[in-house]
Amino acid sequence: MGENQTATQTRKDDHIRICLDEKVQCGNISNGLEKYHFNHVCLPELDYEKINISSQFLGKKIDSPLLISSMTGGTTNAQLINQRLAKIAQKYHLAMGIGSGRVIIEKPEVASTFKVRSYAPDVLLFANIGAVQLNYGYGYKECLELVKILEADALILHLNPLQECIQPQGDTNFKDLLTKIAQLCENLPVPVIAKEVGNGISADMAEKLINVGVKSIDVAGAGGTSWAMVESERANNPLQRELGKTFANWGIPTADCVADISSKYPDIPLIASGGIRNGLEVAKLIALGADLVGLAYPFLKAAMESTQALDFLVNLLNVEIKTTLFCTGSKDLSSLHQNLIIK
Ligand SMILES: Cc1cc2nc3c(=O)[nH]c(=O)nc-3n(C[C@H](O)[C@H](O)[C@H](O)COP(=O)(O)O)c2cc1C
Repeated sequence: MGENQTATQTRKDDHIRICLDEKVQCGNISNGLEKYHFNHVCLPELDYEKINISSQFLGKKIDSPLLISSMTGGTTNAQLINQRLAKIAQKYHLAMGIGSGRVIIEKPEVASTFKVRSYAPDVLLFANIGAVQLNYGYGYKECLELVKILEADALILHLNPLQECIQPQGDTNFKDLLTKIAQLCENLPVPVIAKEVGNGISADMAEKLINVGVKSIDVAGAGGTSWAMVESERANNPLQRELGKTFANWGIPTADCVADISSKYPDIPLIASGGIRNGLEVAKLIALGADLVGLAYPFLKAAMESTQALDFLVNLLNVEIKTTLFCTGSKDLSSLHQNLIIK
């Protein structure tokens, strides 16, 4: 596969390498969660062993409110990562997003590097494609094909205007996309989720997306992996390198997106992601109104290391979530909502 890589495939391998080896985590903007604290409950009146961190999302049961955020596919390296991630998602009943599947339509022989359903038969699985591709030859037919090939439960449309500005030959025609998203939502047999890639979705934008039929929002806010920095690292052209650095800390912090969207749309299935690095942060976001919390970089790092590292990561996240519930006197995730968070 290595010798005849398309530009899209080379980009995918670059992304993995840069995210792991270069300084591309937001430095001067946080996920916003440091503003929130739980009240400590010194006498929880609960049996820790009976605490329940399971949940439901888009009709499927998940054992803890964790999503492996969309990352990769298309290359041999990506295949190994996807398989490891899928197995861990199956083992712990987490939700999983697969990386953008545009290359599957360009080059169907690489579909096997994305296909993880056989490793994760029970998992809530999301296919993924850039919304802007609806202006570049991709439509209902291609999206349906993607969902079918991957046997996905839903389709994520990612929104990445900043990344496209910095990426060499980026796809920057975002005109009239809402109308095309509306048509897709109306016709596709699975729910459509709108997701950013690390710059956040405001409550106003969420409203527009919900009004055209998007069933769930993944805020993918600022505070974690900076795609401006990733693309700056990839760029050969000095102008693009500088452009990426200028916008390294651009976006709406994850916590702000979640607080604003959940207060306006308490019933929308809401995914919080962007810079989430431990289970205490997961619990804070659930208390703020998220239903599912996604992590990308921590899962990538662990997947590249070993299956043991993935096991350790999930166990740690779960025990951090459970400890937060215990020390706030919350028997399950929905009780966490009633717990006071001090701003
Ligand atoms: C290697 C890598 C590849 C990614 N590829 C995609 C993608 O194909 N589609 C997408 O929607 N987001 C993609 N993302 C963005 C993540 O899903 C996530 O929104 C972002 O990295 C912020 O989360 P984090 O701070 O936990 O890394 C990718 C992230 C990484 C680390």
